Amino acid sequence: MAFTKKKTETQELPEVLPKHVGFIMDGNGRWAKKRGLPRSFGHIEGGKTFKKIMQYCKDIGIPYASFYVFSTENWKRPQSEIDGIMKIMREYLDEVQFHLGDGVRAVFLGDKNAYPEDIKQRMIKLENDTAHHSQLTVLLACNYGGRDEIAYSARQIAEKVKAGELNPEEITEQTIADHLYTAGMPDVDLVIRPSGELRLSNYLIWQCAYAEYYFTNVLWPDFSPEELNKALIDYAGRGRRFGGV
Ligand code: IPE
Ligand code: IPE
Ligand code: MG
Repeated sequence: MAFTKKKTETQELPEVLPKHVGFIMDGNGRWAKKRGLPRSFGHIEGGKTFKKIMQYCKDIGIPYASFYVFSTENWKRPQSEIDGIMKIMREYLDEVQFHLGDGVRAVFLGDKNAYPEDIKQRMIKLENDTAHHSQLTVLLACNYGGRDEIAYSARQIAEKVKAGELNPEEITEQTIADHLYTAGMPDVDLVIRPSGELRLSNYLIWQCAYAEYYFTNVLWPDFSPEELNKALIDYAGRGRRFGGV
């Protein structure tokens, strides 16, 4: 395995980095509970980690980083917790561009219509304002579910068939991919899930078909660039065959 010498103070990074890293930001509630704090405190701390990790991805040259912010299933949570998450979202949507600086493009994955109008407008504005940036693309999965996304793709395709623009025989894997929220983005190379849970929880299920997985017991608010380095080193040592030999 070849390592470059420069990139971080604490650890050497592998030469081969994943093009797309997906982060399942889990464990906020448990982080707060361990400290006798309300769950919302965990979400606030988790937000700080999100900013830190996003910045780090940009610094080390990862071109695509996706973050699971809120799932289609998370609406089952108590209204008070959902309200707390919405409050944090508003704050981040207002300040994130300032923190991101130049070079970062934000794209939301999921149906924005489920959000209050002011949040939806902030999301659209952020996407428009950053559309021309290309150093790091940050994919924010908000009201996102992998199955919901595949159903969304199927609806778009069905509309085209209905309009006579597409023949059913012409539908390929690429057609489905081209109608997902991630159209034009690379598949996930590495999924990182902190908090000790060993599952995808409906995250980018199509795009993770050949992803590598990295699980750690660290809770998301405690996740750090050093932890990410460990995952990247682990990833670089894996043999990806994609069904070949
Ligand atoms: C992830 O942390 C944040 C969201 C799902 C919005 P959790 O809130 O799921 O934290 P745990 O899993 O209960 O610890
Ligand atoms: C996945 O975490 C969703 C996000 C991190 C946004 P959950 O906490 O909702 O997943 P489960 O319920 O443990 O599978
Ligand atoms: Mg959880």
